[in-house]
Order: sequence, then structure tokens, then C-alpha cells
Amino acid sequence: MSKMRAMVVPQPGGRLNMEERDLPEPSRQEVRIRVQACGVCHSDSITVQGQMPGLVYPRIPGHEIIGIIDALGPDVDGWSVGARVGVGWFGGSCGFCGHCRRDAAFACENIQSVTGVTRDGGYATHMLALTSALAHVPDALDAVQSAPLLCAGITTFNALRNAGAKPGDLVAVHGIGGLGHLGIQFAARQGFRTVAVNRGRDKETLARSLGAHDYIDSASGDPAQALQDMGGAKAILATVTNADAMQGIAGGLGVNGTMMVIGAVGDLTINSLDLLGKRAAVRGWYSGTSRDSEDTLLFSQRHGINSMNEIFPLQQAQAAYDRMMSGSARFRVVLEV
Ligand SMILES: NC(=O)c1ccc[n+]([C@@H]2O[C@H](COP(=O)([O-])OP(=O)(O)OC[C@H]3O[C@@H](n4cnc5c(N)ncnc54)[C@H](OP(=O)(O)O)[C@@H]3O)[C@@H](O)[C@H]2O)c1
Ligand SMILES: [Zn+2]
Repeated sequence: MSKMRAMVVPQPGGRLNMEERDLPEPSRQEVRIRVQACGVCHSDSITVQGQMPGLVYPRIPGHEIIGIIDALGPDVDGWSVGARVGVGWFGGSCGFCGHCRRDAAFACENIQSVTGVTRDGGYATHMLALTSALAHVPDALDAVQSAPLLCAGITTFNALRNAGAKPGDLVAVHGIGGLGHLGIQFAARQGFRTVAVNRGRDKETLARSLGAHDYIDSASGDPAQALQDMGGAKAILATVTNADAMQGIAGGLGVNGTMMVIGAVGDLTINSLDLLGKRAAVRGWYSGTSRDSEDTLLFSQRHGINSMNEIFPLQQAQAAYDRMMSGSARFRVVLEV
């Protein structure tokens, strides 16, 4: 086959259109991937709605990709045709600039590469990826079921393991959506005393079945006070999509606690006296690199961590995107290619 199909955003705010294109040839240190599945993430709205300056259109969104390498560009070492690979938001790094050497490959000076944002992503039958963006995918993991681990999974897994909490510490997962339902599973399996926080009690039973030891209904009282009553959180994984809700729980941090800000909610108001009095911190966190993706996939396989998904065919990407944006999906939306 010398053609590919893709669901393309023609301009900011435009609808996803099916396009047939010539199969692209991989350049130096790139591979071509035959996409098997791509998750639909809330962050795809950056591309679909044009929420960042300087974006170039048309663009193919999608950054939760699992597929199979079907062609190699020049100078590709260590990867072969037929290998199962995953690609996330991290679209590659040079490995030698100042940022890469300080373990900040996301800010790489030489390759400004964000999958599905500044380069084409996985709402397609095929895509190109830099080898530095590739993660090995264990054979045992199903592509459609596991694609969300490449963003919702890595983001929560990696934030939790970098939040400074140790096994037994109180960790709150705020929000039980696409990210939160994985965050609860990771927090429990990483050994934390895991408390799920959400508005209402609709998701309490599910949260407990995913591994939460406790549950706080943020609508029936002050969630920060509820966390203080439990001794104060060593870490809060803040995945809600609303700023008021997020800042309303920051006061639940305990001494030396850290709130990991995952949800993209814009401005936050935080009480500085509360922070300094406890040496607490509010810290932003993006997903991670391809190495972090591999760690996430292996940890998920070993501990039986699964994303709960609603599945759509590629050509229904617009319906899939609308479903995700509605906030009603349980919990992740995935395109099967
Ligand atoms: N930092 C990163 O690298 C990264 C990576 C991926 C995604 N993200 C961001 O992470 C956020 C979460 O994504 P998601 O896919 O998990 O979203 P989602 O599935 O829509 O879940 C959102 C959660 O926020 C809660 N929520 C929404 N509005 C609320 C309000 N007004 N008050 C209280 N709770 C509210 C929802 O509560 P209900 O259950 O009651 O509806 C739900 O639990 C998004 O902002 C996304 O862009 C960041
Ligand atoms: Zn994402």
C-alpha cells in the first residue's frame, strides 16, 4: 500500500476531515509506524482548537499511539521493521543540548517536537516518529487497550513516582476521569495510602475497586480539611480540569507535601502562608520521555493496571473527540485503526 489515511485538522477550530495522502518516507533517525491504536486526550484540544501560538496547519492530532514499525529511515540503530512501539506527547530529543543533558529533554533546543501538535500524530493509519521518541511495547499488552498508557498512564505514573511520597504515605488523587482512574491504580500499586477525591459519590465504588483505600466527596464538605483530618497529604495528584476545584484542595497538603499539577486549568490562586508554614510545594508536571513510557508500560503489565476505554474506528475521530470533550466517557476514548 502506498497511501495512508488520516483524520486531519484543517485549521484551528476546524472539524476533523478524512484525507488520503501518499505514504511519507522516514528521514534521518526516523521510522514510519503503522498505527494500530491512538487514544484521544483532552490535550488534543490544543491542536483541534488552536490553543497555542505558532501552530502550523493542517495537522494530524494524537499522542497516545501504539503501532508497528514498517519502514526505517537512514541512520536508525537498534530498531527494526516489525517492532511494536509506543509514542506519546514527547516527540523526541537530540540527547546532547543543555536541556537534554539536564534531564529536561522535553525542552530540547534542537528538536521542538510534540507529537500531534508540532508534528503529525496518530489519528492516522501511518505516521513518522523520531527514534528518540520510541518506547518498546511488551508483547502481552493489547494495542487498543493499552494506548492510553502513553499519555494518561505515563503522566500519572511518572508524576506519582516523582512526588516525593514513600510507600505508606497519604496520597490523594483528585479527579476520577481518564487520568485519575489510572492515577488511583498507580498510587495504590506504588504502595501509597491512596485516597480518591471527586465531586459526589457516583464514582466512589469504582474508585475503591481500582484500589483507593479511602474516598472524599469534595461536594459535601471541604476536601482540604478532610485530608488534614487524615494527617495531611504527602502528595496530591491534581487531575481535575477546573481551577477552583484544584486550588480548593491545595490546603490538604501535609508537612513537606507536594501538589503535582496535571490538569491544564490556567491561573491558580495558592495561599503562600499555608505553603511556607508547611514547606509545601505546588509543582507542574508533564508526562515524560520515551524511557518513562517504557517504565509505565512494564509497570502496568506487571501489576495488571488497565485503562477503561470506549473504542471508536479511526474514521469516527470527530465523534470520538466530541465524546471525550463531553466529559462523559468512561474513561478513555481510543481510536482503533
Ligand atoms: N500534564 C500533562 O502532561 C497532561 C497529560 C494529559 C492530560 N493533561 C490534562 O489533565 C486534565 C485531565 O484530563 P482527563 O482526560 O483526566 O479529563 P477528564 O476525563 O475529563 O476528567 C476530569 C476530572 O475533573 C473533574 N472535574 C471537572 N470539572 C470539575 C469541577 N468544576 N469541579 C470538580 N471537579 C471537576 C471531573 O469530575 P466528574 O467525574 O465529576 O466529572 C473529572 O473527575 C486535562 O486538563 C488534560 O488536558 C495533562
Ligand atoms: Zn495526553
